[in-house]
Amino acid sequence: MIKIFLNGCNGKMGQVIVDLVDSNSEVTIVAGADVVEKQYNNFPVFTSIIKNNIPADVVIDFSNPLAFNDVLTYCQNTNTALVMATTGLKDEQLAKLQQVSLTIPVFFSANMSMGVNLVMSLCKQAASFLEDSFDIEIIEKHHNQKIDAPSGTALAIADSINKSLEQPKDYIYDRQSSRKKRSPNEIGIHSIRGGNIVGEHTIIFSGHNEIIEIKHEALSKDIFANGAIKAAIYLNKQPSGFYTMNSMLKT
Ligand SMILES: NC(=O)c1ccc[n+]([C@@H]2O[C@H](COP(=O)([O-])OP(=O)(O)OC[C@H]3O[C@@H](n4cnc5c(N)ncnc54)[C@H](O)[C@@H]3O)[C@@H](O)[C@H]2O)c1
Repeated sequence: MIKIFLNGCNGKMGQVIVDLVDSNSEVTIVAGADVVEKQYNNFPVFTSIIKNNIPADVVIDFSNPLAFNDVLTYCQNTNTALVMATTGLKDEQLAKLQQVSLTIPVFFSANMSMGVNLVMSLCKQAASFLEDSFDIEIIEKHHNQKIDAPSGTALAIADSINKSLEQPKDYIYDRQSSRKKRSPNEIGIHSIRGGNIVGEHTIIFSGHNEIIEIKHEALSKDIFANGAIKAAIYLNKQPSGFYTMNSMLKT
């Protein structure tokens, strides 16, 4: 059984992971850390990953960018594989993850949903096939507590489309700010906020007399937790290196 250390174990995602691991025979949580000291769990919880003395095979981190240095120090010192799911990391932190992956296995994805990553791959394929004959617009919907707009996932989808094009397109977020016709060299990105929508992304390819839509709807946070658990199982078999959902989906 693969031994997991769960950083950020008392947070929303941490608690979803705890519930899902309970019914998964391949993994077990041996310990966790959280700055919030409440004890909800049936495993030891430390106030920092650095204080952990219980050996684990893989660290899953759903915490906060402020924990980043401690997580990396711990994983390097103990030679433990790392699934980094925390978002909002700075460019220099992402570069550090790559650097550390020379010595330990590191998995990173800003969106751990297998479905969203498949959508990205389908969009790439569609965009490179259709090239400039179709206009591309992305609509994302999230709950009314979300602070950032557009969502990191909408941007990641746009980035993946751009990577497949010979001529990358500009991102246009706010059409009301300029009165002019749409240029073919654009990806329009639009945000909707309301209620408790977990997350919805629709990518529209509009051509002459035909429209293609690729849509992903998240119905619960379980999809991110499941992806992170799958990533931990996958990473446990890998040598040192930098892995993403793409690497995992290809296997
Ligand atoms: N990659 C993905 O697919 C994905 C999906 C959902 C959320 N996220 C990201 O995961 C992170 C956590 O999300 P959440 O919704 O569970 O947030 P949350 O605020 O509910 O939970 C974060 C937890 O981390 C704890 N924490 C903060 N600093 C810590 C430290 N130094 N050491 C240990 N624990 C610490 C907090 O006390 C809290 O309990 C966020 O960055 C979020 O954007 C990623």
